[in-house]
Amino acid sequence: MILSQILAASDSGVLGKDNKLLWNIPEDLTYFKKRTTGKIMIMGRKTFDSLGKPLPKRFHIVVSRTVKESDHEFVKYVSSLKEAYRLADKLTLSGAWPEEVMIVGGGEIYKESLPDTDYIYITRIPGDFEGDTFYNLQLPKEFGLAFSQFSQAHRGVRYEIWSKATTTGD
Ligand SMILES: NC(=O)c1ccc[n+]([C@@H]2O[C@H](COP(=O)([O-])OP(=O)(O)OC[C@H]3O[C@@H](n4cnc5c(N)ncnc54)[C@H](OP(=O)(O)O)[C@@H]3O)[C@@H](O)[C@H]2O)c1
Repeated sequence: MILSQILAASDSGVLGKDNKLLWNIPEDLTYFKKRTTGKIMIMGRKTFDSLGKPLPKRFHIVVSRTVKESDHEFVKYVSSLKEAYRLADKLTLSGAWPEEVMIVGGGEIYKESLPDTDYIYITRIPGDFEGDTFYNLQLPKEFGLAFSQFSQAHRGVRYEIWSKATTTGD
């Protein structure tokens, strides 16, 4: 199993406010869809609630201290991140889902899962926003920038991929 975080953050690391995103960038939503469709997603309960409903063609593992039953075939609540990994591992080993498992937020889950993460897909949103949920963009030293590209459609937006395998060597 490969663990990849995917997120969009402002210059100061703002992720959202009042359980909502603070920007509307259709190209980034398309990017998120492309990177997650057909895959398992691990998320915190607040992020799952913010979706409104499960996203098509994706398996949702929802981390919560209050485990609920879901009648949706692709939604499963678990009580810890470790349990989320165990379930994701089992599902990927069955061959039904690909090896790359996407961690889709929010702030709490990104922070807790960072030590286990292999890749980080970051959409950098220029400017500043007042938020209540943050991502620490000072990544641990073992991550190196593997890809960086400015958006064609949205001035200043940049897509980055950070990889544990691509270190700067220092
Ligand atoms: N910009 C982006 O890319 C992006 C992506 C995703 C989300 N967001 C934003 O991030 C915000 C939500 O993030 P958040 O940090 O507030 O919440 P979150 O990480 O989505 O969810 C937090 C919840 O997860 C559960 N949880 C966390 N750690 C746990 C653990 N160790 N064991 C068991 N359960 C655990 C708890 O659920 P219970 O309370 O049920 O126990 C906790 O309240 C929203 O504003 C959303 O829009 C932004």
